[in-house]
Amino acid sequence: MMSNAATLEGKARQQTAPPQVDRRVVVEARGLGKVFTSSFTQRKKWAVKKLSLKVYEGEVFGFLGANGAGKTTTIKLMMGLLSATAGTIELFGMKPGHPATRARVGFLPENPSFYDCLNLGEFLRLSAALSGITRKREVERRVAESLFLSRLVDEENTRLRKFSKGMLQRAGLAQALINDPKLLVLDEPMSGLDPVGRKEVRDAIVRLKEEGKTVFFSSHIIPDVELVCDRVGIIKEGCLEKVGQINELVVEGAGSVEIAVKDLREEAASGLKPFVKKFGVAGEATILELEDSETTTLVLGKLAREGARVLSVTPHKESLESVFVNEVARRPGLVAEGVKNSAPRRRGRLAVLSRR
Ligand SMILES: Nc1ncnc2c1ncn2[C@@H]1O[C@H](COP(=O)(O)OP(=O)(O)OP(=O)(O)O)[C@@H](O)[C@H]1O
Ligand SMILES: [Mg+2]
Repeated sequence: MMSNAATLEGKARQQTAPPQVDRRVVVEARGLGKVFTSSFTQRKKWAVKKLSLKVYEGEVFGFLGANGAGKTTTIKLMMGLLSATAGTIELFGMKPGHPATRARVGFLPENPSFYDCLNLGEFLRLSAALSGITRKREVERRVAESLFLSRLVDEENTRLRKFSKGMLQRAGLAQALINDPKLLVLDEPMSGLDPVGRKEVRDAIVRLKEEGKTVFFSSHIIPDVELVCDRVGIIKEGCLEKVGQINELVVEGAGSVEIAVKDLREEAASGLKPFVKKFGVAGEATILELEDSETTTLVLGKLAREGARVLSVTPHKESLESVFVNEVARRPGLVAEGVKNSAPRRRGRLAVLSRR
């Protein structure tokens, strides 16, 4: 049933999300909005504005946004923990707070707190009881399955107060799985975890997808989102700025290309000037930085004719990080000046911050 954890992310990354035409909509928000009013100044603030979004059955959806962007507010609206000021949100075509909806959803809140005098098994049995699972055999089956999916089988009898942060996060995940939900809603499941802990949670998300579950999770850890998500949405100041598959958001070939050459004569170099953004030197090699991949073939042809020796051609691909940084960079003061300067907007394509 399960595949080797080490290969999970690779598999997830290679998967192209199936077309959404015939897929069931699991989450649908239409013009969703939430206003908070300060009890002191009575000032109103839209934490979420006109948010419309569909999440389809079986997909892993990453909800990206900077601190204060409105991720948790959206998730609380999704879970029926807050009521909407405007618009609607439905899960499985029903209202979030409906018992039939709750039976199909597992939720990991942003900062879960636990009864730490309980051991993990006791905590999960309590969670099962609160989910309305009462038959002993069913409870034991659900506890075993949740422990397995969250890789905590050996910790069933350990008290929660002895758990590390990463183990607690996985205990929260086990709790969210106790009712065998069709949809998992996870608010920052990797936050505060070290690289190993983050990988464990990512692997768990991929396993859940393999089980046919739909996963919606918020994060601002971009590599985690890139590794496991079929689609992502970027929220900024309450507004959903972009939604799509990563390869739709990240423009193919928009990154610059670096060519390292040897034996490049001076006249040949000046003939290449119109095509080269920047010349540099690294040891004995001359480095030609091209604006984009479109001119690479042309420049390589000219280099060959001039008898220059090409040592390497390195495309600097655009990353989801650059898309994200560009979105938040448009908010003054949020991104350091240096980052803004290195992420210029270019006509007709997303600006890039090459990841080298
Ligand atoms: N209960 C509340 N009362 C007043 N304002 C709130 C409340 N909850 C959230 N906000 C405000 O709404 C905005 C969005 O907050 P939210 O917690 O949804 O952001 P977030 O994207 O989850 O941020 P983070 O990454 O820091 O968790 C923020 O400006 C926040 O101050
Ligand atoms: Mg939050």
